[in-house]
Amino acid sequence: MTSQHPSFTAPQGTHADLAAFLLQRLAMIYKDTEVAAHTARRLEQVIANRHEQRSTALKALDAKRLNNPQWFTGNHFMAYSTYVDKFGGTFKGVQQRIAHLQSLGVNYVHLLPFLKMRPGQNDGGFAVEHFTEMEPRLGTTEDFQALSVALREAGISLCADLVLNHVADTHDWALRARSGDPSCVAMFHWRSAEAKDALEPLLPQIFPQTAPGNFVWVEEQGRYVWSTFYTYQWDLNYSNPDVLVGMIDNMLALANMGVEVFRLDSAAFLWKKEGTNCMNQPECHWILQCFRAAAQWCAPGVLLKAEAIVPTRELPPYFGLDDAAGKECHLAYQSSLMAAAWYSLANSDASLVQRILGELPAMTDTTTWISYIRCHDDIGWNVLKPELTGNEPEQLKYASAFFSGQVPESFAKGISFQATHPDAVHGTNGMTADLLGWAEHRQDELGWARYQLMTAFMFSLGGIPMVYMGDELAQHGQDIALQATWTDTRDIHRPPLDDSAMLAAGVPGSRAHSALNWIKTLRQLHMNWLTATNTSHLRLVDTHDPRLLSIQHGAVTCVFNFSGQAVPWPAALNGHRTAHDLLMPNETPAERAAVQPYQALYLVLA
Ligand code: GLC
Repeated sequence: MTSQHPSFTAPQGTHADLAAFLLQRLAMIYKDTEVAAHTARRLEQVIANRHEQRSTALKALDAKRLNNPQWFTGNHFMAYSTYVDKFGGTFKGVQQRIAHLQSLGVNYVHLLPFLKMRPGQNDGGFAVEHFTEMEPRLGTTEDFQALSVALREAGISLCADLVLNHVADTHDWALRARSGDPSCVAMFHWRSAEAKDALEPLLPQIFPQTAPGNFVWVEEQGRYVWSTFYTYQWDLNYSNPDVLVGMIDNMLALANMGVEVFRLDSAAFLWKKEGTNCMNQPECHWILQCFRAAAQWCAPGVLLKAEAIVPTRELPPYFGLDDAAGKECHLAYQSSLMAAAWYSLANSDASLVQRILGELPAMTDTTTWISYIRCHDDIGWNVLKPELTGNEPEQLKYASAFFSGQVPESFAKGISFQATHPDAVHGTNGMTADLLGWAEHRQDELGWARYQLMTAFMFSLGGIPMVYMGDELAQHGQDIALQATWTDTRDIHRPPLDDSAMLAAGVPGSRAHSALNWIKTLRQLHMNWLTATNTSHLRLVDTHDPRLLSIQHGAVTCVFNFSGQAVPWPAALNGHRTAHDLLMPNETPAERAAVQPYQALYLVLA
């Protein structure tokens, strides 16, 4: 296909391959060789322009990373995810907190949306008004550039959201579409009342209470526009090449400002196909592959991360399969293991985690998971549904109720997220310490043990462990009394970083101190011991007790008790009865008779 358009041939070698691949994918997306060829030429121009503007420093980084394509896998990275305003107030404030990130061992920071956002309601900044301008509250473009340089100098890669499925209804494209500019009208999906009613039954309801339905009436157009998320987030129409070219240009502009990792927000939703749920469509992957090819060509040091909160079995295509192997995303969230860990804690039964771990897809040396227990969104239980057998659907409902204050014997203090139906399994919101019921006083041994368990589990998984803001201080969520000011109940776990907890972290015996030092310890052990390059190199040890999970991670045998009971030492680990526990370096264990309630162990044989 390249030969039809000799002008779209890059210099040589890999660039020529990328050009050919891009052209082929464009032809698959648009099903028209003329359109594909024309779009390819436009993209080539965009890539060339952005490459020319790319700084020498960033080009040097690109070259270094091209020579070491595994630079982000293994135990190299530890991530931290936070909002600019909650963490430091402004870009400058974040810069002043770089030392805090470094003290944790963080070398990858995900700053949640910071681009110019819709005034008023904006879904935590996920309603973007301008893709290359900064939100004025947070600082200027110069402040952002200074922050990105400072992070790079500190050895921290900056991750930013690329909200590529939708724009704010105040974005220029939406404003012009509303007023009838045909080139902008064509950037969105429009439907009549009858047509949208016919589509709704198959479509997911993301915010069924605060934004029911997938369409919103636009008076000036006399029809509905597609808006999967909030009504002010208008889905882009990727069947129009202008959208793809415009969004790739935005990505490369941000890459030139120093963004090193793009979190491809809502990546599953990019392609609409009537008669389907409009998620995970093949075209969606071809589009993501175009983003990858453009990034690879212009800024090869940049990584792409799929935010596809879908069951694990649907995730391999996001890394690229068959002729696209290694040509889509470098990273993806492992949300099934995240949800399964909480499920296991509620049910004192780790067999679901064990099963998911045992069935993880094979990973290559240049792809990996983000391993996490909390993030800025709810714990979405639905990703687990395809994994469940027997009475597990009941146990899933129980887990959701357990963490949302509906089970009297529960230690957890979370709240539920919206759902379509009273019988549906509601997502769960809350900060880690609250969901774990870790009470303020350090003497709450069981709460502390649960914190150790969940975090040690996250670090053991062979992906990139990601700490969510404030969890390193075991911070509490926002006061429920503020609920009237929230967009939705996810705001409970979006509190400002607590300065008093930061201070308390310096006082031995405080909860914040215990938490912070624990995370630092885990990161040290991660760097020194947890050397498996990815999940494919982990081995499960069958403990024959559903309460206990055991993972062989290189030289370390990790043992996790997901129950509140002391569990007799498993025969499968008899050889480890007196093994050294890296997590308790000062203790020389007597022969172990049991795994203590919620205990985590990282055992090494002498
Ligand atoms: C992603 C974000 C979420 C946001 C949604 C719509 O899922 O994580 O916070 O509401 O996209 O942009």
